[in-house]
Amino acid sequence: MQNQNSKLVEIIGLILFLLILLSCKHEIPVQVIESPVSGGEQTCSADTVYFQNKVLPLLNSSCAMSGCHDAITHKEGINLATYGNIMATGGVRPGNPGNSKLYTVLNRTGNERMPPPPAAAFTQAQKDIVYKWIMQGAKNNACNDCDTAVFTYSGAVAPLMNTYCKGCHNPSSLGGGIDLGVYAGVKSVALNGKLLGSIKHQTGFIAMPQGSTKLSDCKIEQVQKWVAAGAPNN
Ligand code: HEC
Repeated sequence: MQNQNSKLVEIIGLILFLLILLSCKHEIPVQVIESPVSGGEQTCSADTVYFQNKVLPLLNSSCAMSGCHDAITHKEGINLATYGNIMATGGVRPGNPGNSKLYTVLNRTGNERMPPPPAAAFTQAQKDIVYKWIMQGAKNNACNDCDTAVFTYSGAVAPLMNTYCKGCHNPSSLGGGIDLGVYAGVKSVALNGKLLGSIKHQTGFIAMPQGSTKLSDCKIEQVQKWVAAGAPNN
């Protein structure tokens, strides 16, 4: 009896040890190499999907939010905050979206889908961005898509909100209770000073976009000019 009991203790101990080992396997830091961005000064070509302009903001606002695949939480060991981290997941096979988990998880159902419910599934247009970028070789590329002379709501502010902010500020994921997918929501933070305070990373405001790099000076200037014009729905 005594012998059996100590065997049992031994087995339980072994199981616990294995469980601890398993739960720790995601904690091992991965050395990530960041490759340089190419083409940032060139004007955008309509046929190309640029990683820095379209793909990264989409992933940051839909997948890299706090509690998901951000630099701190990285669920399943996956961090989608930078190009190097995204490529290090092994979920991107350049030229082969059908074999790339980063793309295939967008089309799964139920809780297997990314981003999982209650977050909204990617729209077809958003899926196409990921698909085309992988098809085109999954490069760390960028283009110059900003002009400070354009600062209307429809021409500059709304597209910027859609790309950089809406993923965390929509009815199913309402960061700070703010909906930036609609004019009324953007206007209210424009008029109370929080919009500029947050994107300019001013003290007293929460820096936005959360968890990713600051918007370019050109984009901040567009928003600033629109706010100065009275935040019109133009
Ligand atoms: C990854 C998710 C995420 C992204 C992307 C994001 N936000 Fe936020 N935002 C949040 C969360 C969460 C809060 C609430 C933070 C809190 O209360 O601690 C918030 C709060 C804010 C606030 C209130 C700030 C304050 O000081 O009270 C503003 C304004 C805002 N966001 C604007 C933006 C704008 C503009 C963008 C795009 C340029 C953006 N956010 C992108 C998650 C995000």
